[in-house]
Amino acid sequence: MKSYQIALLEGDGIGPEIIREGRKVLEAAAQAGGISLRFNPYPYGAEHYLKTGETLPDSAIREFRDSDAIYFGAAGDPRVAPGVLEVGLILKIRFDLDQYINLRPIKLYPNVESPLKRNVPIDFYCVRENLEDFYNGMGAIFRSSGDPAEVHHCDLAMHRVPYDARFSLESRLGAADDYAVGMGIITRKNTERTMRYAFDLARAKGKSKVTAVDKDNVIPFMYGLWREVFEDVAKEYPEIAHENNFADACNMWFVKQPESYGVVVLPNLMGDIITDLGAAITGGLGFAAGANLNPQGVSMFEPIHGSAPKYKGQNVINPIATILSGGLLLENIGEPELGALVERAVEETLRSGAIRTRDMGGSTTTSQVGDAIAAKVLELSGK
Ligand code: IPM
Ligand code: MN
Repeated sequence: MKSYQIALLEGDGIGPEIIREGRKVLEAAAQAGGISLRFNPYPYGAEHYLKTGETLPDSAIREFRDSDAIYFGAAGDPRVAPGVLEVGLILKIRFDLDQYINLRPIKLYPNVESPLKRNVPIDFYCVRENLEDFYNGMGAIFRSSGDPAEVHHCDLAMHRVPYDARFSLESRLGAADDYAVGMGIITRKNTERTMRYAFDLARAKGKSKVTAVDKDNVIPFMYGLWREVFEDVAKEYPEIAHENNFADACNMWFVKQPESYGVVVLPNLMGDIITDLGAAITGGLGFAAGANLNPQGVSMFEPIHGSAPKYKGQNVINPIATILSGGLLLENIGEPELGALVERAVEETLRSGAIRTRDMGGSTTTSQVGDAIAAKVLELSGK
């Protein structure tokens, strides 16, 4: 029997509840497919940080490298300052494991209401670049008072860029004001593999167009390279159409004509912002799955949403985003049929009208959703 090791990080807030349901469905899929999934729990998150001061030790990263995948709930707690867990836990995993793709399917499921008036099918993929752009953590706040600069930089091996913001800026602006500098990076190698992933995905999913998003009109010194690489890679896929969108216009088209997209490839920061809009037009964060992929390494699967502390322990949160992220997990560890089975089970369960979660205006509980979808997985597989 094929066996997979899954590192399990429930995290905070509603994390444990959604992971419990996600795991239920994964276990049903494993039973259907005759594989074994071994879940290895890790305690990281707010509670662990408050107790120990530790966000994520390097030893955990080493253990993740020996896993087949990471299944992540949500991190964040009002008692922990913003940024601590985002950077010290989530971004650390993404960066250290070189998870350069953030895949976010944007799909409107049956019986899920879109806030858009025009009732059109929505089914496309956002491929968000996951390591570079303004997420490098490089920058600084310089104080005119003479206080020491608060310099931030992430010493990513691939991004060891020499820079001296103080020198170049003070010579331009003078030191009479406080100022902050943030540095975004686009590298050819990373952009190339991201673009290639986007075109390969279009091919694999039968999408006829890839749209690259940027603000090349105002930040050509960064997104000029992004665009150049997009054009180069597009030549290798002559059967797939390609186009550029400025990010502001892309926002508008997500609302006005979402059915026109196939695969959308986005720089990290714009991708973060625009994929929340993608979630919103397809019924909200309760349905928005995500995957942080290193196609050659270990990937992490997590819903787009956060830890929603005020709903913790109430059994009212929609676990479908986490369940669908579990489907992406199966697809990417080498069990694509089982991944498709999970997605179909979600789709069929929603189509039947059997579940209406709170965010859909109903009262189906978190655990009832997991039960219904797990049962549907077994039913569809004939087990
Ligand atoms: C997301 C989140 C993260 C991001 C945070 C928690 C680091 O908003 O996954 O979209 O900005 O990427
Ligand atoms: Mn986000």
